[in-house]
Amino acid sequence: MNTDNQAIVREIGRYIDKPIVLVGLMGTGKTRIGRALAAMLGLEFVDSDAEIEKAAGLSVCDIFDRFGEADFRDGERRVIRRLLDGGVCVIATGGGAMITEETASAVWAESVSVWVKAEMPVMLERTSRNNKRPLLNQGDPESILKDMMEKRYPIYEQANVTVDSCNGPVDIVLNEALEKLCDYLSLQTAKAG
Ligand code: S3P
Repeated sequence: MNTDNQAIVREIGRYIDKPIVLVGLMGTGKTRIGRALAAMLGLEFVDSDAEIEKAAGLSVCDIFDRFGEADFRDGERRVIRRLLDGGVCVIATGGGAMITEETASAVWAESVSVWVKAEMPVMLERTSRNNKRPLLNQGDPESILKDMMEKRYPIYEQANVTVDSCNGPVDIVLNEALEKLCDYLSLQTAKAG
């Protein structure tokens, strides 16, 4: 860790009193960035999809196949509710989590939210690495993602902080996230007086 980062990490540690929640479309790197951020801040990292899979004993694809999207969303809502109650940690959410109004309201009110945003080629490349995203297996991934951008960007835009994700080394996005989180938290603390 360089000295600038050390100071930033100390500053964030001083102010943070809620979970940090990463939101954004599939393939933007929420899990990768979330894990790196948690390691840097010395916090626990949890991924909502992994928690849903653990609770159900099934993969996300199997849950969609056997029970459908509505059941998956309900499980997702419950899991994120539980994770938000678990104290200060870093939570990566599935791309569709914020379309559930109850989840979105809880995340905006009870966390420091980070929108992880990436260009289309990045999302396409990352999501093409495996077949684990049932909604992208239903047609042309680019059109599906474009449609999701239209519907979901107005929701993600409400996050406290936005970071640009790329396919390069995770440190680039990590540093941006650390700086923006530090600025946001200092400002909030100053406002609170
Ligand atoms: C989904 C995103 C996925 C997963 C599920 C549905 C979505 O998570 O929750 O396949 O609706 O965007 P990632 O964003 O982690 O890929």
